[in-house]
Amino acid sequence: MSCTIIAGGTWGDEGKGKIVAYLALNDKPKIIARAGVGPNAGHTVYYQGKKFGLRQIPSGFVYEDARLLIGPGVLINPEVVLEEVKLTGVGDRLGIDRRCTVIEPSHIEQDRSSEHLKGKIGTTGTGCGPANVARVNRTAKLAEGVPELERFLADVPKEINDSLRRGESVLIEGSQGFGLSLIHGTYPYVTSKDTAASTLAADVGVGPTKVDDVMLVFKAYVSRVGAGPFPTEIPQEKAEELGIVEFGTVTGRRRRIGTFDFDLAKRSVMINGATQLTITCLDRLFKGASGIRSWDQLPSEAKEFVEKIEKELEVPVTIISTGAALDSIIDMRAQKL
Ligand code: IMP
Ligand code: MG
Repeated sequence: MSCTIIAGGTWGDEGKGKIVAYLALNDKPKIIARAGVGPNAGHTVYYQGKKFGLRQIPSGFVYEDARLLIGPGVLINPEVVLEEVKLTGVGDRLGIDRRCTVIEPSHIEQDRSSEHLKGKIGTTGTGCGPANVARVNRTAKLAEGVPELERFLADVPKEINDSLRRGESVLIEGSQGFGLSLIHGTYPYVTSKDTAASTLAADVGVGPTKVDDVMLVFKAYVSRVGAGPFPTEIPQEKAEELGIVEFGTVTGRRRRIGTFDFDLAKRSVMINGATQLTITCLDRLFKGASGIRSWDQLPSEAKEFVEKIEKELEVPVTIISTGAALDSIIDMRAQKL
C-alpha cells in the first residue's frame, strides 16, 4: 500500500470511519489525510470502549504515529475542529492546509433558513453549501486568516507528495458517497461538491498518477438521509423487522433504508475507478456473521451475498466488516491481491 483512497460507494454512512481506523492501525501509514466536503460528514469510530463521531479530524487518528492532515479542498468549521482536537488529543500531529475554506456562522444561518436547502434538499444544516458558494464567488475566508488555527497551518499537498516520493504510505479518507456527488449523483438531491475518488485526490493535492488504490466502501444494505431518489428503498416497518434502524451522526435524523443497489454500485465502481471493495455491516444482514474474522466461518448465505457482489461488480471484495469493534473484520487482501 502506498497511496490509497477510501471512498463511499452510495449516499454516505457506509462505515468508512471504521474502515479507515482499521487500515490505520493495521497498515501504519505515515499520513492520513481527510478529503471530501467538510463537517457535514459524521465518521463513527469505536475505539478502546469509546464512541467517536468525527466530522473533521481523520478517523485514522487512532494510529498514534500518523500525521493527520486536512486537505485544502475540505471546508472547515474552526469551532468543530478545535472541539475535536480536544476530544481526540491530536493537536501536535494535526495539519490544516492554509487554503481550506472557512465555514462562517452566516453560512450555517443561510443553510438552515433556506427553504430550498433545508426544506427541499434536506441538507445537514452545517453551512457547507453556502461556504462552497462563497469560495466560488471568491469571497470566502481561508484557514490562514483564522488566528485560532495558526498552530495547525500546513502545506498539505507538499507534505503528502514529499512523503509519497520517499516511498511512504498515505491514506486518503473521503467523506459522503458517490450518490451525493454534485456532478455524478442524484442532482439536485446531492451535496455541494463532487464526492468521487478523483476529486478526493484533488482535495488533498495528489495527482491521479500518484494513486495506487481506490477502496470503495459499501454497506451490505443501503441508507440515505435527506430527500432524493432511492430505487431500492424499503418501508421503515420492513427495515425494523430486519433489525436495521439507523440515525445520522451529525443531524440525528432517521436514515432511510434499502437493499443493495447493484445498478448504483456498478456506476459507482466505474466512476471511482475502484480497485478493491469493502462490505460493511454484514452482521446486520446475516446475524451469524457477527464478529466473524475469517471467510471460512461466515454463514453460507453471507458468503453467497459477497460472491454475488464480486461477480456483478467485477472487483475483488478484500475487506468485510462484521461488527462495530475494530477487530470485527475479515481482511483478505493478502490472498486476493
Ligand atoms: P449538505 O451536504 O449538508 O448540503 O446536504 C446535502 C445532502 O447530502 C443531504 O441529503 C444530506 O443528508 C446529505 N449528506 C451530506 N453529508 C452527508 C454524510 O456525510 N452522510 C450522509 N449524507 C450526507
Ligand atoms: Mg456518516
